[in-house]
Amino acid sequence: MVAGWHRLISNLIGKSLLQYLWGWLIVLLSLAGNAEFWVIAVNRTHSFPISHRILRKFRLFHDAAILGWPPALILWTERTSASLLRGGSLGAQPDALRWLLLITMAWSIPLFLQVLSWQLVRRRQFQYVDSRRVYAVRGIIPGPQAEILGKPGGLSQKWPWNQYCHLEVNTKSIELRPQRQRPETARRTLQILHLSDLHFTGTPGLAYYEFLVQKALEHPVDIIAFTGDLIDDTALLPEAIAILEPLTRHATCFFILGNHDWRYDFHQIRLALSGSGWRCVAERPEILELDDRRVLLAGTERPWMGDHPPQVMESGFDLTILLSHSPDQLPVAKRLGYDLMLSGHTHGGQVVLPVIGPVYSPSRYGVTFAAGLFPEGRTVLHVSRGIGGKDPLRWNCVPELSRLCVTF
Ligand SMILES: [Fe+2]
Repeated sequence: MVAGWHRLISNLIGKSLLQYLWGWLIVLLSLAGNAEFWVIAVNRTHSFPISHRILRKFRLFHDAAILGWPPALILWTERTSASLLRGGSLGAQPDALRWLLLITMAWSIPLFLQVLSWQLVRRRQFQYVDSRRVYAVRGIIPGPQAEILGKPGGLSQKWPWNQYCHLEVNTKSIELRPQRQRPETARRTLQILHLSDLHFTGTPGLAYYEFLVQKALEHPVDIIAFTGDLIDDTALLPEAIAILEPLTRHATCFFILGNHDWRYDFHQIRLALSGSGWRCVAERPEILELDDRRVLLAGTERPWMGDHPPQVMESGFDLTILLSHSPDQLPVAKRLGYDLMLSGHTHGGQVVLPVIGPVYSPSRYGVTFAAGLFPEGRTVLHVSRGIGGKDPLRWNCVPELSRLCVTF
């Protein structure tokens, strides 16, 4: 039956069906590999302290390379007598085209490995929660929608099923094996509210952030940790500080800044937050006394600002926590002996595709630490999907506010 269909189609198109399929497969692998190469390049370059103007130009180049290769490839192969789309073979293509095809096809291998890793391991790490509640904030708050949706933005804001005005409030349990645990002491739990990447840009609107703070105040916690990227429109700094201020009366609040804050007058941003009761741990670690336990909170804003955090391996603290905007500092945290590292920066990729998972994640590890919980030896890393972003687009990647129940 199948052989009959194959013969019929082959007769109709005059070539072996397999030849056609092979040609189309080469084209598809080349397009996928080309896209993967440029995505990897963008993810890696965005993990370094490079001026955002240069990065923007590089992104435009990446857009042109991804969108330009399909028509270029098709036009090129169609001009030969052995078009890949009409059953031509790879060997029959002109030398330059054949080499480009081989190189781009080779870059589809990391894509397949990435999909495999997402399906087998990373998706579980990304989605790990004990409980979650998702709020469609737009439908909850009464009043003018513009105060929630924010300024009318570009194309990304109008994408269907955009979740940038949603909020997930979740709880995650983290079991630590502190490097200095005293055998005679009972285990205890520290409750941390982890907040990251607020990106006040005007979109979503300020009412969305007020809702976020209201939800944060509903959870009794020991500390609140903000891991950077406060603002992208510095005119909103007074409003941002005023909205976050009630949190400082709810629990002890610690913060560091991120790469977006670094683009602006970050001294002013740091002073404004510190002046409202938030404690900056980027320059000087803080010690928290919890009954008979001593917890150290340190921070690093590398690679954009400041220095490495202190060594804590033999420091005698019961628990050591590092706030680092970028998850790329994980090897440093492990080497220096931190028990827990809290990060943001990667926004969970903002768009999580079915089957493939997150694609864009500004890290030297690509999408490996896009978001989620990662036990790495004796150090556990939690990467928040964050709240906002320069582009108000979230797909399958709801902004998150996490209550971490850390047992140590
Ligand atoms: Fe960010």
